[in-house]
Amino acid sequence: MNGTAIITGAASERGIGRALAERLAGAGWHLGLLDIDPEVKEVAAALAAAHGVSAAGAVADIADPDAVDAAVSVFEADLPPVTALVNIAGVSSPVPLVDADLATWERVLRINATGTFVTCKRVVPGLVERGYGRVVNLGSTAMQNGGGTYSKSTYAASKGAIEGLSRALALEVAPHRVTVNVVAPATIDTDIMGGRITEERAPAFLAQLPVGRLGTPREVAALVEFLIGEEAGYITGATYNINGGIRIG
Ligand SMILES: NC(=O)c1ccc[n+]([C@@H]2O[C@H](COP(=O)([O-])OP(=O)(O)OC[C@H]3O[C@@H](n4cnc5c(N)ncnc54)[C@H](O)[C@@H]3O)[C@@H](O)[C@H]2O)c1
Repeated sequence: MNGTAIITGAASERGIGRALAERLAGAGWHLGLLDIDPEVKEVAAALAAAHGVSAAGAVADIADPDAVDAAVSVFEADLPPVTALVNIAGVSSPVPLVDADLATWERVLRINATGTFVTCKRVVPGLVERGYGRVVNLGSTAMQNGGGTYSKSTYAASKGAIEGLSRALALEVAPHRVTVNVVAPATIDTDIMGGRITEERAPAFLAQLPVGRLGTPREVAALVEFLIGEEAGYITGATYNINGGIRIG
């Protein structure tokens, strides 16, 4: 019997979080969906109706501890015990450092890095207390490669913070049967890279992709589903690349 998975960033129609929510609901997971976009409530209601699982949607900025606390408190009161946290919410930034102002840096770091800290801080103590849990945080090839096809230094730095946090947290909670891993994608066909990757934009992305195509949100969701499963208990502190070969190793 599956528990509840909390997924941040599950509202975006073509995004990785929505694809994961759909996949997990189909597999019988209960869902606490958290997003700054109010659409998240309809997403949760539709998945509950379609799959017969319990699901709740809550509107919150992941970097706001009070808002996250309120949302998670509702999940804890209304849903089966939380056994997984998947931090997918995030923003990109195509601005190179020479053009970036402090506000850009602070916004991207606040949402991506602080947001991941805030949700982990709120949810992980409960996993530790119950002696079981899975955490997956979204990194990016941009951190490993010195920027991506679209996103530049500020975004790469924010994902570096997420990886460092994840590895350290993995060690801190390992004795409590809680695992923490990173999934690092590149060039998944969503709208985060300045909108849809249209036919005109596609060649610039495809030129860097050895597999010759963009990745899909469903492919990322399948990997996350494995990592939050019971059988993945011996995997922790790891980074799983899902990048079409844009980076090897
Ligand atoms: N698409 C890619 O190629 C790619 C590559 C590497 C990493 N990623 C990472 O995957 C994750 C999901 O990306 P996506 O492509 O599905 O993007 P997306 O834009 O489709 O989805 C992002 C979601 O995060 C939510 N969000 C943004 N700021 C928020 C905040 N402050 N509080 C709560 N929710 C907030 C948005 O409303 C949206 O639902 C991100 O962390 C991104 O950095 C994506």
